[in-house]
Amino acid sequence: MNQTLNDPDDLHGLFPVAVQLVRQVVSIGDAGSLRRWLEGRVAQSNSRSGSLLHTGQITPGQHPVSDAIFSALLPRITEFGALLLGESKTWQIKEMWGNIMHNGGSQSLHNHANCIVSGIVYLTPTALVESRTVFVRALGGQDYKFGNEHAGIFANPFNASRWIAPEAAPGDVLLFPSYLLHEVPAQHEKPRCTLAFNAIPTRLESWGYGLSLHP
Ligand SMILES: [Fe+2]
Repeated sequence: MNQTLNDPDDLHGLFPVAVQLVRQVVSIGDAGSLRRWLEGRVAQSNSRSGSLLHTGQITPGQHPVSDAIFSALLPRITEFGALLLGESKTWQIKEMWGNIMHNGGSQSLHNHANCIVSGIVYLTPTALVESRTVFVRALGGQDYKFGNEHAGIFANPFNASRWIAPEAAPGDVLLFPSYLLHEVPAQHEKPRCTLAFNAIPTRLESWGYGLSLHP
């Protein structure tokens, strides 16, 4: 039998990371009305970027579109969470807030503590690459690191250090595991508006060691 040196059938991508873009959780029109409402609810600027503004907590009952998003997201989070945990559990969105990034603003590298699934509801288009969320491979610990990163390499899932999310339209939602490092580059044009959220299952079980989680 003829076999190439690198038979793709013999190549295994171990322990992949799940990231899912869910299209049109709300309509483009509804996303626009929510964006305008959020712009009037800015509560504070980001500690590292004065051009990135955050709202306070968005809770159920405050706006019909955010309520629709809460309802539409829960089944999606449940399905996504089943991929991560191997079981369809009861989930809750424990916090949601708005982000408005103006010209020159950026979101520095971070992840989300004390939750399992995090997500971004895009309320403005991400046609420009600088408006897309960038995921970054873990930076490593305190050991010395050796690498082979330069303009001549070809990037693939086994060596890439970053991954840029696909283009999203207003109303699209990106779901990802909360531990995953992510950032947003500096913006150069129109404001970028998103709704971010964190979700947890009500309980985790591991061979008799249980943990109840509460918002
Ligand atoms: Fe984030």
